[in-house]
Amino acid sequence: MKKILITGATGQIGTDLAEELRRIYGRDNVITSSRRDKPEFHEAGPFESMDCTDAKAFYELAKKHEVDTILHLAAILSAQGEKNPNLLWDINVNGLYNSLEVSKELGCALFVPSSIGSFGPSTPRDHTPQTTIQRPTTAYGISKVTGELLCDYYHLKYGLDTRGVRFPGLISYKALPGGGTTDYAVHIYHEAKKNGHYSSYIDKGTYMDMMYMPDAVDSIIQLMEANPDKLIDRNAFNVSAMSFEPEDIKKSIQKIMPDFTMDYDVDPIRQAIADSWPNSLDTSAAREQWGFNPKFDLDKMTEDMLKNI
Ligand code: SER
Repeated sequence: MKKILITGATGQIGTDLAEELRRIYGRDNVITSSRRDKPEFHEAGPFESMDCTDAKAFYELAKKHEVDTILHLAAILSAQGEKNPNLLWDINVNGLYNSLEVSKELGCALFVPSSIGSFGPSTPRDHTPQTTIQRPTTAYGISKVTGELLCDYYHLKYGLDTRGVRFPGLISYKALPGGGTTDYAVHIYHEAKKNGHYSSYIDKGTYMDMMYMPDAVDSIIQLMEANPDKLIDRNAFNVSAMSFEPEDIKKSIQKIMPDFTMDYDVDPIRQAIADSWPNSLDTSAAREQWGFNPKFDLDKMTEDMLKNI
């Protein structure tokens, strides 16, 4: 990667990723973009307002900056997608299609994140294999499987250098996630610091895969810099650093804040989504093919989150 364009760069992943990429590759070699525009987006380096569903604007932006890599993060998350599946399809599929076409035209490498949401109720729940049943029951999941297949297709048919991971729930303190099912694992830390209490919309005993943002950022950079000859499963690699349920995260917070309390106010929509996803992924393909090696476990992440919020 030499000159990088990030779409959806003001979101949860993009905020942390842009900062780290600018540290490694240089401020002006990382172009951030988003549908939104605010004066503060321009402060850390080149920023352009761009809607990824506008094919012409997408192409012109990538061409103008002569980028060699596109990290396409613009997407709608699972819970928001169930409320507005049409918008989700437009951004998650048509926007992704544009990223493929732009990358093909300009010869760019392309990263697209998939998700644990690409799995469904018929997927094996524990140690979910790299290659397995993917019959998701959410609009988000359907868009993610579509994305994985389209990225494989462009690689096979046009030799495009597409790469991706299936992210679990991502936890960070710099930017909040918007409209996901795993967001409770971020909100809980903010509420712990603010009120000493959290009411969880995800029920006791619901295990989901999770990862701390520094490990997610490292995984994107490692995968994009990996030797392509070693990549068998390009789109997309299972990645995860931990699997926990709400009681586990509560206990982890109580080790530092003994007075922290939690109760439950389960949201049936997000609970149904969580129930359709795996408990824990098998990440061996990512470890073997490009050295995926996350550093944060639950307690180490809790310590860092509570320190930084
Ligand atoms: N964090 C995402 C969500 O909950 C999953 O990829 O929608």
